[in-house]
Amino acid sequence: MPFFFSMVVAFMLLFLTGTATFYMKLIPKKRILRIVSVAMMVVINLGTVWFMVNKMSETDGFIYRACMFLATLCFVVNIYGAVFFLISLIVRLSCRILKKKDSKVAVFLRGKYFRLCVLSFTVLLGIAGYINMSIVNVRDYDVYTDKLPAGKEYTFAVITDMHLSTGVYAGRVDDLFEKINDTGCDAVLFVGDIADNKTSKAAYDELRKALGTLKCPLGAFYADGNHDDSGSQNMRVLMTNAGVKVLSDEKYELTPEITLYGRNDPRSFRGGKTKIPTDLSDEKFNLIMTHQPVNLSLFADAGADLSVSGHTHGEQFPLMYPIIAASNDAVMGHDSIDGMDVIVSRGVGGWGLHFSLPSPKEIALVHVISEVDYDR
Ligand SMILES: [Fe+2]
Repeated sequence: MPFFFSMVVAFMLLFLTGTATFYMKLIPKKRILRIVSVAMMVVINLGTVWFMVNKMSETDGFIYRACMFLATLCFVVNIYGAVFFLISLIVRLSCRILKKKDSKVAVFLRGKYFRLCVLSFTVLLGIAGYINMSIVNVRDYDVYTDKLPAGKEYTFAVITDMHLSTGVYAGRVDDLFEKINDTGCDAVLFVGDIADNKTSKAAYDELRKALGTLKCPLGAFYADGNHDDSGSQNMRVLMTNAGVKVLSDEKYELTPEITLYGRNDPRSFRGGKTKIPTDLSDEKFNLIMTHQPVNLSLFADAGADLSVSGHTHGEQFPLMYPIIAASNDAVMGHDSIDGMDVIVSRGVGGWGLHFSLPSPKEIALVHVISEVDYDR
């Protein structure tokens, strides 16, 4: 983990240097103003990096949220400012090669107004992403199977990537659980990353209380994620004490027609060591809860009919899709791998900062329906 954080810090400092140069033209030329501005930029940027890698709140109160908002803005302005900076460098270089360095485009890209446009755009981007992270909608997914008799349907609310205190603040846990109860689902599946390294005591308390209000006739189930151990509480113990059944590389006969299997998170990219069930019955509908959508074809070969996952957060930050796609079998939505239905939720929250764009946040409501009812 220290290696990962060092990479994050190194990556950010690299971009911060680039964008500081880029935005410098907006600062008035007076020496004292330049020194003060640069000093402020350094303090704010280092503060953002520190905030992203450290826990700083026990309450998720106003100051914590204000810091989260500022850190989000700072991150977006810097990172996406750097993207525009690189694009402008390439275009300006091309203009120079084509001997058109005094063209309108090249002059505009060298000037103050371009930087002002980029600054305004990235600030708006940061605000939009911050607001988008707070809006959680219910998204329906239909899965048809010949393993259910006509007229039979089961509904599962898949909750993943809450990243409490970062994705979902303590004060919003109640609203989220009210939404889950309003779906009228038969069972709730918590598919990992419910906690985060920043999860506050207040958020854990709210989660504990909210779990007691769940209304789901077939029960609630939990399989862990790669961030669930990084907070101050043991999520498996918390879930068990709240009446949620923890599935740890084990199966559970939910109904005469449906078997659930919860996979322990492999804690590494591309799956690491993972236990594949060997005793799934062909007669039953086998539903796999796996936080990371990796090694999915192994589960399909083992007889799974449906896998539900999270981890990717959809596309939480613009332009990240290719990186996420390269390290997971599926990124978001409803897909099929070797005949197995695959659903990857965009999650109810996200990692690092209170920001999500372009992906909206979702409670994935999965309807498992008899194939006979396909045309209903
Ligand atoms: Fe994750």
